[in-house]
Amino acid sequence: MRIDAISIFPDFFSVLDISLLGKAREAGLIEFKAHDLRSYTHDRHKTVDDSPYGGGAGMVMKPEPWGEAFDQLLTGNPTVIFTTPAGKKFNQEIAQELSKKQHLVFACGRYEGIDQRVVDYARTKAEVLELSIGDYVLNGGEVAAIAMIEAVCRLIPGVIGNSDSLADESHNDGLLEYPSFTKPQSWRGLEVPEVLLSGHHAEIAAWRKQQSMLRTQQNRPDLL
Ligand code: ADE
Repeated sequence: MRIDAISIFPDFFSVLDISLLGKAREAGLIEFKAHDLRSYTHDRHKTVDDSPYGGGAGMVMKPEPWGEAFDQLLTGNPTVIFTTPAGKKFNQEIAQELSKKQHLVFACGRYEGIDQRVVDYARTKAEVLELSIGDYVLNGGEVAAIAMIEAVCRLIPGVIGNSDSLADESHNDGLLEYPSFTKPQSWRGLEVPEVLLSGHHAEIAAWRKQQSMLRTQQNRPDLL
C-alpha cells in the first residue's frame, strides 16, 4: 500500500518509523511519505492560511497550496482522507475497508480547518472521506492521521506476524475483548481466574464470551 500525508508539520509522522509499521515499511509492505504543505507555496513567507470570509475567530487554510499538492499526489486511483473533528467517526469497519485500498492520501488540516473548496476539488479527482477519530478537538489532523494509519496498516496481511491475534481483539465482532492474564499465577495476592488454568477449552471459551459481554455492558453499552 502507498500512503501519502500532507501537513505543515511532516515531522509528526516520524513515529511511523518505529515498531511494526517501521518494519512493514522496511519490508516494502507499506510505502509512506509525508509532504510539507509549505513546499507547495510560492511566497516568501510560505503562507498557508488566511482570515475567514464572513468573519469569525481563527484562520482558514488557503486552497492554492492544497490544489498544487493534490495535482502532484492524486495520481492513479487514490482515496483522500481529510482528518477533521467534523468528519464521520472512524471505526474498525472503516479501517478494514481502507486496508484493502492501494493508495491513501491523508490531508491534515490545522487552524479552523481547510477552505471547503479543497474538499470539493479533491472529490473531482478521487474518492474522498472526511473522518474524525472521536468527539474531541485536537490541534490538528496529524495525530488523528497517525492513529488511522496504524489501525489500517496492522490489518494489511504480513504487517502483524501472527494474524490470529487480529481475530480475537476488541471491535472485531462488535464486542470488547475479554481480559487477559499471564504468569505468574499469583501476583501480589491477586490470582489468575481458575478456569484459565483448567485446560478445558470449551469452558475457557464460554468464560471469555461472558467476560466480553460484561465488559461491553460496563464500558460500551452503546455497542450492545
Ligand atoms: N483534527 C482535530 N481534531 C480531530 C479529530 N477529533 N479527529 C480528526 N481530526 C481532527
